[in-house]
Amino acid sequence: MKSLLGVCMEGEVRDVLQTLSEARSCTDARVNRSPAPLWDKLELQLNELAMMVGSLERRVEHLEDERSALVENIKFGVLIEDASRRVSYANKTFCQLFGVPLAPQQLVGLACSELGEQAKLSFERSEEFLPRILEITEAKIPVHAEELVMKCGRIIERDYIPVWSNGSFRGHLWQFHDVTEQRQIVELRERFAHQVLQAQDRERRKIAREIHDSIGASLTSLSIRTRMLDEIGAEEDYSAHVNQLQKLTAATLGEAQRLAKQLHPLALEQLGIAEAIRQHAEDLSQAHQMPIDVDVMGDWQGVSETMATALYRVVQEALNNVMKHSGADHVSVFVERKTSEIRAVVEDNGHGFIEGAETQGMGLQSMRERVSLLKGELSFETPPRGGTAVCLRIPAPAFDKLG
Ligand SMILES: Nc1ncnc2c1ncn2[C@@H]1O[C@H](COP(=O)(O)OP(=O)(O)OP(=O)(O)O)[C@@H](O)[C@H]1O
Ligand SMILES: [Mg+2]
Repeated sequence: MKSLLGVCMEGEVRDVLQTLSEARSCTDARVNRSPAPLWDKLELQLNELAMMVGSLERRVEHLEDERSALVENIKFGVLIEDASRRVSYANKTFCQLFGVPLAPQQLVGLACSELGEQAKLSFERSEEFLPRILEITEAKIPVHAEELVMKCGRIIERDYIPVWSNGSFRGHLWQFHDVTEQRQIVELRERFAHQVLQAQDRERRKIAREIHDSIGASLTSLSIRTRMLDEIGAEEDYSAHVNQLQKLTAATLGEAQRLAKQLHPLALEQLGIAEAIRQHAEDLSQAHQMPIDVDVMGDWQGVSETMATALYRVVQEALNNVMKHSGADHVSVFVERKTSEIRAVVEDNGHGFIEGAETQGMGLQSMRERVSLLKGELSFETPPRGGTAVCLRIPAPAFDKLG
């Protein structure tokens, strides 16, 4: 069975054939009593008409081939009904989308009302399915991207186009588009943006807490001591107090510098990831009087800024945690870039994670989020001699993608 388009074109050809045959009988009638020049003229006209018919037929065939190739290969499900609501065409995608266990050609001629009875069972709010179709087909007004949710969770967008030809109604064209993946991508993007905002907020709260607890406390102490200086009599010795004040100021300055580094590690931009990790380890080692072995291997050129920052932050937090929680007296950092992945291990010889000792901290959560955004893996292992090993693996595609 031909599609509506085919049917319309066939109508045109039939009209021309009709004209041709009328012209021919008219000519035959006249020929008997007409002079030769008129006969020649009519024969010429007949030939022209025959050529027109031939070219129209070729056009129909050509259009039919184009239509088949187009409709068979598009990723939309297509269903065309004739004016009496019987299937005149369905494509493969339509059958796949709705799990119809028949070949598209087998649907041709079937009553759409019966098909609808079956189809409605696949949809959420199935009781609204048929009344809505009736409403649309009666109104014969195009409908665009109407959303339908299937019971299996897939989301389908439905278009409706009434088909008219030369002012007469020829049928209904339905188009179905599975937009589940598209919607999931949008949802993922939104969730990602939300996660980024949350992480940003957490980081700010952490810094605010540190400013309050360290610099805030030092400045309070400074302010008390300056007031004391003002209160003591001129005869007392100032030098001890001034000495204390100098020490406190230097410590506050050091703390402010440490916080500034945490907020934005300038070394990362200026020296690159390998040197930035080495410098951070050296600072910590000095501040905590603990030896830290650092081994950074591989060529780090071309690694994206996002990737470098995430790696630096994870190593930084793992090292901070060693200093704060592990009770270790030695720690080693191993980082390597290979063609297929980036690996990092921060291993201490402390007491390991103690059940129930977890704080309300955000460090581990931030580490996990950073790594999962880069589609990597983060694990906490216990080395054979005890302690904790924080292991990170990020696959190669993440290096460039998020650059
Ligand atoms: N290397 C480690 N050795 C032993 N315990 C650890 C180690 N790293 C983390 N922990 C445990 O994990 C808990 C959570 O660490 P997390 O980094 O999330 O929080 P925090 O360091 O207390 O706070 P924040 O990182 O927000 O400043 C810690 O309280 C600690 O008990
Ligand atoms: Mg921490």
